[in-house]
Amino acid sequence: GNGNLPDIDHKNIRIERSKNLKPPLPYKDLVFGRSFTDHMLSIEWEGTIGWSNPLIKPYGPLSLDPSSVVLHYSFECFEGMKAYKDKQGKIRLFRPDMNMKRFVKSANRIALPTFNGEELGECIKELIRVEENWIPQERGYSLYIRPTLIGTQAFLGVGPTSNALLFVICCPVGPYYKTGFNAVKLLATTENVRAWPGGTGDAKIGGNYSPCVKPQIEAAAKGYQQNLWLFGEDDEVTEVGTMNCFVYLKNEHGETELVTPPLDGTILAGVTRDSILSLARSWNEYKVSERKITMHEIIKASEEGRLLEMFGAGTACIVSPIKEIRYRNLDIKVPLDPKDPSNNAGPITKKFADVLMGIQYGEISHEWSVIVDK
Ligand code: COI
Repeated sequence: GNGNLPDIDHKNIRIERSKNLKPPLPYKDLVFGRSFTDHMLSIEWEGTIGWSNPLIKPYGPLSLDPSSVVLHYSFECFEGMKAYKDKQGKIRLFRPDMNMKRFVKSANRIALPTFNGEELGECIKELIRVEENWIPQERGYSLYIRPTLIGTQAFLGVGPTSNALLFVICCPVGPYYKTGFNAVKLLATTENVRAWPGGTGDAKIGGNYSPCVKPQIEAAAKGYQQNLWLFGEDDEVTEVGTMNCFVYLKNEHGETELVTPPLDGTILAGVTRDSILSLARSWNEYKVSERKITMHEIIKASEEGRLLEMFGAGTACIVSPIKEIRYRNLDIKVPLDPKDPSNNAGPITKKFADVLMGIQYGEISHEWSVIVDK
């Protein structure tokens, strides 16, 4: 906490409306993360003063001193969440409390000031009300919301920052897969690791993402869309690209099991990950495990015909089916839909996508979908 200094308080929010609103892009032209809405939320922090009154203002460039700590030592953390418009025109968020809790946790991990996550959530709702016209009203489309916190003290010393800026920007996004699923080929990365015990793999900080781009370029040059991130002497599976990883298989005891690596500090606690685990546990159709899974186990399952499906899970594309893994000198084929080989995703993968979207768009009633009152 920040002692007795003022915390974020949504009741003090001020709105400065933009005088030249941009025309929204046609839905078909939406590219993830390219075009932004008219306004942004901005809240400043000063160590001796606390959090400023939240301000919604026209979207625009930041002015930063070149010595700002964010630019030198990566004092930056962020969140990714979406607002949806349902068939009745109601605005919905998906488990925003989880994003707010994780945002505070990430800030704390890199010694940025913390704040009341619920209050920030209320400020974000206000931003979404202002930007309501930017939320596409069609299944698959949504408004991607990017809360960001940076250290802004002008100082080259390595230490806690006396100043910070929290801002939230939004971009309308289309469905990740415009023409059905696009199953990906992975290159298992054996030269680099994404995270390690005691590190920052479980914090959503910019510093976790930039080091993964070079391996991704190398994978792409060899024809693989994503990296499969491994860790440890026995090559445990950790994450896939920027997503959590799920393996659906018949295990060595003959049980059908959905496996994802445990939150041991190296894994980002994805909201989609948690939702998939909860849904699967509530359905009670197969064993659901958060446990270590090694490449050896995946190879053996593949060789014995027990590897059933694999997919990545994250907010941006919900689920991303995996069709092949290159691991050292082995090509491991992952089945997609055994009943219909023309399908680009297996039945379990597809069911998670369908049910999660159903909840997000309010077609399936669930407490996870939070209506934003207008
Ligand atoms: C995800 O939603 O899966 C992400 O990791 C977001 C990405 C754009 C950083």
